[in-house]
Amino acid sequence: MTPAQGILVDAVLQRFGAKAVTTDPHAIAPWVTDWRGRYHGAASALLSPGSTEEVAAILALASKAGVALVPQGGNTGMVGGATPPADGSALLLSLRRLNRIRALSPENNLAVAEAGVILADLRSAAEEAGRRFPLDLGARGSATIGGLVSTNAGGTQVLRFGTMRSLVAGVEAVLPDGSIHNGLAALKKDNRGYDLTQLLVGAEGTLGVITAATLRLVPGMVARGVAWVGVASPRDALTLLRRIEAATSAVESFEILPAHTLAQVIDHVPGIRAPLDSEQPWHVLIEAVATDVASEPPAQLLERLLTPALESGLARDVVIAASEAQAEAFWRIRHSISEAERAAGPALQHDISVPVEDMPRFMIEGGAAAEARFPGTRTVAYGHLGDGNVHFHVRAPRGADAERWYAEEGATISGFVHDLVVAANGSISAEHGIGQMKRAELERLSAPSRIAAMRAIKGALDPQGILNPGKLVSLAPARSTP
Ligand code: FAD
Ligand code: MLT
Ligand code: ZN
Repeated sequence: MTPAQGILVDAVLQRFGAKAVTTDPHAIAPWVTDWRGRYHGAASALLSPGSTEEVAAILALASKAGVALVPQGGNTGMVGGATPPADGSALLLSLRRLNRIRALSPENNLAVAEAGVILADLRSAAEEAGRRFPLDLGARGSATIGGLVSTNAGGTQVLRFGTMRSLVAGVEAVLPDGSIHNGLAALKKDNRGYDLTQLLVGAEGTLGVITAATLRLVPGMVARGVAWVGVASPRDALTLLRRIEAATSAVESFEILPAHTLAQVIDHVPGIRAPLDSEQPWHVLIEAVATDVASEPPAQLLERLLTPALESGLARDVVIAASEAQAEAFWRIRHSISEAERAAGPALQHDISVPVEDMPRFMIEGGAAAEARFPGTRTVAYGHLGDGNVHFHVRAPRGADAERWYAEEGATISGFVHDLVVAANGSISAEHGIGQMKRAELERLSAPSRIAAMRAIKGALDPQGILNPGKLVSLAPARSTP
């Protein structure tokens, strides 16, 4: 621990007690490695404030002492954004103790949740009140509101309700100097210039620490229909989506996975069964939701829309969940993909988007191009087809040593994939953010004006660079000494 860190830790201990400070390396250990196990950091203390005021006091002290802090929620991020630097130069700032839902109003369709509220808990609370918080993802049992806001998370319900950005009506945050930005009021109209709330959404903890957010709720679910469909190709899957969308606005999810990914989930996750009896090259999971009793039951709606698709051969096989338990079983497959991918061995992950209509071509041609360029690798693309966002993974050749392969091939392979994405007018980060994983690639592939603007914003709000150093954008470009 550096002397400055020691002074900060002592001050926090004295003012806020033992609950607010952990220095036991065993207790800190789970929080210095990311979920995928790709990034390993070090921190000699984990600070856990219990209120917005405590966060503000800690940031004021840290700013005075020049101590860097890494904000952290559930540590489920996919780009090493919550992993501290390996040299121990920063302390962890956990927001998990800020876990109150301060208000939930079904009348206004709004909830005010603190940063440490777990996504699953907010979803349950909204459901009990007859509403829904629609954003959903596989890490719902650990991911926190602060993390979801800070990464502008996506997930499987974006098709209908958008990413976190569109669900955030306001935020409360502590800025690097310890001042509190209270932007929780959900104003329908507010034209006071720069939108600080939206600036903090997706800022990955580099501009401020989110302490609470006002979140939009949507009408509760009366019934849902969940279908599993076998298709010949991503192109057919997208044609199917467009036909369904032309007939109804009830579809909330449209997810795609190749046969290889389904097999991997069955291999690695206990208790999973293939939904279809037939072998299919591509699989699609569709969810349609009814929010009022007068609507056509969504399972019936899906059957009505999928029957002609089956007859024409656009859909090659279909099963519509006959019960909630079966619907849940279908979703369990989808939400277990990351776990199965992690267990299956080394792979380079690319969370990418291209214009939706071009995604089928990109999945097939991009996959073939990467496999041809890097013999022995295998590409897998799955995810949120309806959003033009897939997780495009390049698996290591059989028997490859993981760390060596990442070190020797990682940058070249990811660079190759990202070049294909840029050529297709896409984004190298659709929903996971930049973190430390994609920082160099963001700089390489962005217009200098974009990086300069981001750097200027960072420098204005955090001139000392104490918030989440080494993530998203560095404070200043490396300067050569004259
Ligand atoms: P962390 O991992 O702790 O932090 C993420 C980033 O936010 C870091 O940069 C951190 O510094 C910052 N941060 C955290 N809390 C705060 C705060 N209060 N104030 C300021 N900065 C903060 N993501 C998707 O978008 N879509 C998916 O479908 C999806 N599926 C997933 C499935 C699985 C199984 C897993 C493990 C992850 C998945 N993710 C997905 C990624 C991850 O869940 C999201 O990025 C999520 O938003 C991270 O939340 P967290 O609380 O774990 O944040
Ligand atoms: C998903 O859609 O499952 C996630 O974003 C996680 C992943 O990249 O695997
Ligand atoms: Zn995803």
